[in-house]
Amino acid sequence: MKDILDKLEERRISARLGGGEHRIEAQHKRGKLTARERIELLMDRGSFEELDMFVEHRSTDFGMEKSHIAGDGVVTGFGTVNGRTVFVFSKDFTVFGGSLSETHAQKIIKIQDMAMRARAPIIGLFDAGGARIQEGVAALGGYGEVFKRNVIASGVIPQISVIMGPCAGGDVYSPAMTDFIFMVRDTSYMFVTGPDVVKTVTNEVVTAEELGGASVHATKSSIADGAYDNDVETLLQMRRLIDFLPANSTSGVPEWPSFDDVERIEPSLDSLVPDNPNKPYDIKELILKVVDEGDFFELSEAFARNIVIGFGRIAGRTVGLVANQPMVLAGVLDSDASRKAARFVRFCDAFNIPIVTFVDVPGFLPGTAQEYGGLIKHGAKLLFAYSQATVPLVTVITRKAFGGAYDVMASKHIGGDVNYAWPTAQIAVMGAKGAVEIIFRADLGDPEKIAARTKEYEERFLSPFIAAERGYIDDVIMPHATRPRIARALAMLRGKTVELPGRKHDNLPV
Ligand code: HXC
Repeated sequence: MKDILDKLEERRISARLGGGEHRIEAQHKRGKLTARERIELLMDRGSFEELDMFVEHRSTDFGMEKSHIAGDGVVTGFGTVNGRTVFVFSKDFTVFGGSLSETHAQKIIKIQDMAMRARAPIIGLFDAGGARIQEGVAALGGYGEVFKRNVIASGVIPQISVIMGPCAGGDVYSPAMTDFIFMVRDTSYMFVTGPDVVKTVTNEVVTAEELGGASVHATKSSIADGAYDNDVETLLQMRRLIDFLPANSTSGVPEWPSFDDVERIEPSLDSLVPDNPNKPYDIKELILKVVDEGDFFELSEAFARNIVIGFGRIAGRTVGLVANQPMVLAGVLDSDASRKAARFVRFCDAFNIPIVTFVDVPGFLPGTAQEYGGLIKHGAKLLFAYSQATVPLVTVITRKAFGGAYDVMASKHIGGDVNYAWPTAQIAVMGAKGAVEIIFRADLGDPEKIAARTKEYEERFLSPFIAAERGYIDDVIMPHATRPRIARALAMLRGKTVELPGRKHDNLPV
């Protein structure tokens, strides 16, 4: 009996070594952790249950029959993050470069199916060279099976992809269909085809970092929702993110103990909006002062910075926050900002996370660049996402809410449940200058008349009261009372129920 037990332990020790000590050393030299070290950091200590540790590939081509490594390049299993169940697969670059074979795919598929049955989040840690070249179409078939499951799980369980090394070819499309992608700066890159193929096809000379590093995907392409400095920081941030997320679409948001009084008032907010309406201020200050303990998990921080999105908590329960950022492009809505916020609103709605929206928006960004780039369709995405949302929507207009952007930003008309405005709010079709130049064009040659008309317009329209008189704004609130007012609205909305007409699915303007 002792022999048998020892044999098991021997096989385990050998499997845990993956591609061997020298490859593990090479991995460390590149500043990367191994697949198992990453899981250890991600999960609660000792909670990880590894499955399929002894799985090996079945390929006999190109000498593969002589090369078998237990686990076949991916470590899979389940465990807990702060006590809540999470499934994980972690590509092992030390084994055939983490490449995906038929059996490697079957391991991932098993975990995807288990996560769906258990209705718990799944995290993929990527560090891999794409399809196992020696396996040909068997690898492609494996990818297809993984992709299909990503789509079926979409909107049912949260799916997170973390890119921690190379991620190319077939490996990019599974992350692309998950809810969030995070990258590690300098050691990870993601592209459909690498620099060599790019050179052959387009004659463009580009490095892996320039083509698909974190600096590209977190700022330019918006493929990544965030980037962190190293493996350790990335995995600790993933633990933080998991704490905000519901287990699935019907579980409701997690509730954590909070020591932050929901009735807390913030006198400093009374002077957040500057006297000069064209002067910027940092909307993140408002977010940090409203959420529990100032804990805000920002997403896509470096892309479309004119809108801020992320998770916080109020009364210990997760909320999604969407806020125009006056510090960047005056908080205008452009194509990128609209796309960024639309996807976030849809995530929150799919997983029953209430949304708090802070509005200070001068409108949509005019110009050929935006129009040629499809502003109408991208802006419609955000309008569609909010209009479609059935989760609690609480909106606070802090300053400008001009034109179509007023409607789009979770206004009463498209489904806002509780809509507040600060006394500094200006709710109108457009700002005073533009309005006066159009409706009093005949007076343009007379500066005095124009000044008088501008003053008249500002006094009449640039306040929250016209909207409040119509009931479009439920109340004009003191800025210092924003947190308690939002908290009460959210508490009232906990049982919100909306019935939508039956249909196969909607047709979002993608
Ligand atoms: C089999 C692979 C592999 C692959 C790497 N390896 N990629 N084995 N299939 N796709 C192996 C290497 O042979 C090597 O084995 C070990 O992994 C480490 O690889 P290196 O090249 O030494 O590492 P590095 O220099 O860091 O380069 C990493 C890399 C490179 C950039 C990922 O290996 C690479 O370009 N690989 C091929 C990428 C690729 O073209 N994949 C196919 C994409 S097509 P040893 O034994 O020496 O340690 C695809 C189609 C799917 O994915 C489409 C579905 C929709």
